[in-house]
Amino acid sequence: MRHETGVADAAMEAAIDAVIDAAIQEVNHRAHGRMSDRFRRVRRQSRAIAEPLSAEDCCVQSMPDASPVKWHLAHATWFFETFILERFEPGFRAFHPQFRVLYNSYYEGVGDRFPRAQRGLLTRPALDEVLAYRADVDHRMLLLIDALEAGEHAPPEGFMELLELGLQHEQQHQELMLTDIKHLLSLNPLQPAYQEMPESLRIAEPARLPLDWHHIEAGVVEIGHDGPGFCFDNEKPRHRQFVEAYQCASRLVNNAEYCAFVEAGGYRDASLWLSEGWEWKRQLKLEYPIYWQRDAAGGWREFTEYGLQPLEPHRAAVHLSYYEADAYARWAGARLLTEAEWEHAADLLQGCGREFFGVAWQWTSSSYAPYAGYVPPAGAVGEYNGKFMVNQYVLRGSSSATPLNHARLTYRNFFPACARWQASGIRLARAG
Ligand SMILES: [Fe+2]
Repeated sequence: MRHETGVADAAMEAAIDAVIDAAIQEVNHRAHGRMSDRFRRVRRQSRAIAEPLSAEDCCVQSMPDASPVKWHLAHATWFFETFILERFEPGFRAFHPQFRVLYNSYYEGVGDRFPRAQRGLLTRPALDEVLAYRADVDHRMLLLIDALEAGEHAPPEGFMELLELGLQHEQQHQELMLTDIKHLLSLNPLQPAYQEMPESLRIAEPARLPLDWHHIEAGVVEIGHDGPGFCFDNEKPRHRQFVEAYQCASRLVNNAEYCAFVEAGGYRDASLWLSEGWEWKRQLKLEYPIYWQRDAAGGWREFTEYGLQPLEPHRAAVHLSYYEADAYARWAGARLLTEAEWEHAADLLQGCGREFFGVAWQWTSSSYAPYAGYVPPAGAVGEYNGKFMVNQYVLRGSSSATPLNHARLTYRNFFPACARWQASGIRLARAG
């Protein structure tokens, strides 16, 4: 009897295993199917961003921090070629052997690289050749992905993770393309628009959001990513932090409020500024945000992707450095949130908090540092985030330039305190 039961159990287990295997295959097939669609979509989106631009627009570098659009298009492609095709493509041959150096951004583990500040000198390869590079790598990547979709074999170890990282990486560069091209066009006396303002925006009045303060209790909070879904290495591990009671602003500081700071002499009052920020502002002779301009009537205009536009008082103030955000907060009798406070508040206030995502990245007062227990991945991709954890501040949320589906609660963006060409704004905090 015991023996017969054992046979029945074994048969049942085999049947269950077969069902589970079939289910896993189906899930994998669907996941890979979605992955190939996503690959095409993400790659197409980069091309679409470059579409309104001329070849000349795509070649120029407006400052060492920014890169030419043509370089972004090539570098995002280089990432797939170097980290995936070189490792997984049978009989790999580089599209062009020198591109390995030309489009290596900062990976010491890959070898030599072309100096960042000179990317604008690369009139060759021409934009057409870069687009041919993209088409070639897309074709070869899709051969690999299609073979997985067809169930020819299981994904090799590390393939799917690197593919996902490559797509997320390209989305990061899509945002940089938009902010870099805006900076370049802003320096042109013709003040050209990147694109025409859509009719819907021309007639829409921005919402006038009241400023409320949300009280949040003191306590031990958990921040960081704990799955499911993708995250960058710097978002892990999820861990505990203690926060004192605090109040979190329900929305971002808007242009009217920041304008009041400018008009009240905020840029001329040293008591409001960090020493380093005051020196930065003094050397650059700054008196207002990077894209603002006085108009003939004494009002303000702002350079936008739609060209020069009247400064919209109810829109969030953007393109502010950490120094400016910190000085404004001091003037307003408040402060910036720490990143633990930001993530905890954004999590708690889902539904009643405003502008956490999709408007402007929000400076936090937290230095960009590893979480307790952080371990960078092995190999050259371990250089993706970890080695930049010095002299930078964390920004949270996402901006209007962030690709859809790229933002998440635990996302950690980071820039030096002087960076102001990104779409960065201010969410205030004060004692609870
Ligand atoms: Fe990159």
